[in-house]
Amino acid sequence: MTDASRRIAIKGRVLSFDGGPTDRPTLHEEGIVLVENGVVAAVGAASEIAPHLDPEVRVVDHHRHLVMPGFIDPHLHMPQTQVIGSFGTELMEWLSKYTFPEESRYGDYDVSRAASTFLVDELLRNGTTTAGVYCTSHPGSVEAFFSEAERRQLRMVAGKVMMDRNAPPRLLDTPERGYEESKALIQRWHGVGRLEYAITPRFAPTSTDAQLTATGLLAAEHPDLHIQTHLSENHGEIAFVAELFPWASDYTAVYERFGLVRRKAMFGHAIHLGEREMAALGQAEASAIFCPTSNLFLGSGLFDLAGARAAGIKVGLATDIGGGTSYSMLRTAAEAYKVLALRGQKLTAFEAFHMMTAGNAEAMGLSDRIGRIRPGMEADLVVLDTHATAALSWRMERVQSLDEELFALMTMGDDRSVVATYALGRRVHDRRAFQETPPLPPSGAPGLSFSAEEMEQPQ
Ligand code: GUN
Ligand code: ZN
Repeated sequence: MTDASRRIAIKGRVLSFDGGPTDRPTLHEEGIVLVENGVVAAVGAASEIAPHLDPEVRVVDHHRHLVMPGFIDPHLHMPQTQVIGSFGTELMEWLSKYTFPEESRYGDYDVSRAASTFLVDELLRNGTTTAGVYCTSHPGSVEAFFSEAERRQLRMVAGKVMMDRNAPPRLLDTPERGYEESKALIQRWHGVGRLEYAITPRFAPTSTDAQLTATGLLAAEHPDLHIQTHLSENHGEIAFVAELFPWASDYTAVYERFGLVRRKAMFGHAIHLGEREMAALGQAEASAIFCPTSNLFLGSGLFDLAGARAAGIKVGLATDIGGGTSYSMLRTAAEAYKVLALRGQKLTAFEAFHMMTAGNAEAMGLSDRIGRIRPGMEADLVVLDTHATAALSWRMERVQSLDEELFALMTMGDDRSVVATYALGRRVHDRRAFQETPPLPPSGAPGLSFSAEEMEQPQ
């Protein structure tokens, strides 16, 4: 028998992107997600599921709000929450002027712990339940982040940055230390709760050949682990890589040489790739992570989504905090639309919401567990209010279809649209707890059926 306290029926407009990026999503206008022990037990129309519900199951009714898979953010930096919005530089100067000095503070465990708590709170407030996270080169920064994520029972992927040159001494490890510290963190954290370790060489300019060799060895010893790094973000960076690795025909060839281009390898940015590089990533079933707010803020360039897809590359969509400027995947999707518009490409709402959920799960190699609302999947959910602000509510008066509604939501929405966030069926964010004066619902719309005090605390 299932413990009744671990069963919950979440009602609302249940939306899941079950097919491919351009397929229509499944919408149950009056739907139910039945969660048992943190996993989706059933999903469908309320009229079909409700009559069979055990009367002991707790029902939470979100009425007119959308219930979707929790957002997934495949690329961000835990130690950069206080770097966001630093003025006036492109990538390489931004790293040396702002980011490296800031990351140098994270040798202090208390700094890492405070930032990790802030980051996880902020992600949940924005409806993001899983992220691909870069910590710093200090092992304690990974300890702090994973401890916080474990406490909230979240599915998170993170790793210690490896870097042994071209940065301040306080941030540098060595090939041996990078390998040993990563190995110890894998043993301590990988597979604990829902946590997964990502092998994390920062990018080619900050690793010697010796470090990349050690990283390749680590990757070969752990063929199922994620790898995360940066690739081809900025022209100055690309020129520097050509200087540092004169034997490489292009930037991607550096990572290929050391065995780092493979399934579950996530390459942040990947903007200025040549045809050969695109084909190599596609053939290796690697992922390119599109970070539009960061690419605009740092003036890095315009990602080629159509080109990446044509090459068979799995594409993720991410915030890249703190080169990126918003924690919100809705804001990120809005900027993705604009970047692609400048390239003459179109990002539909269905495609954007697919990317934020099922697509990002695929780009992270996690689609067997998260990203869709299906029996057996982990019940990480976000509940969205398409009428969260006066401007949204006013705009919604004129929408005539689900794709118009979702497009207006991603264009104008942000954290104010996130009503609640669930992890394993437990409510881990409740908008009411953050609002002194909740906005009035549109006339005739029922309010929510729970109170802020109901919000569940991590055990
Ligand atoms: N390349 C190497 N490190 C970083 C980083 O921290 N942010 C971004 N945007 N690019 C990088
Ligand atoms: Zn990054």
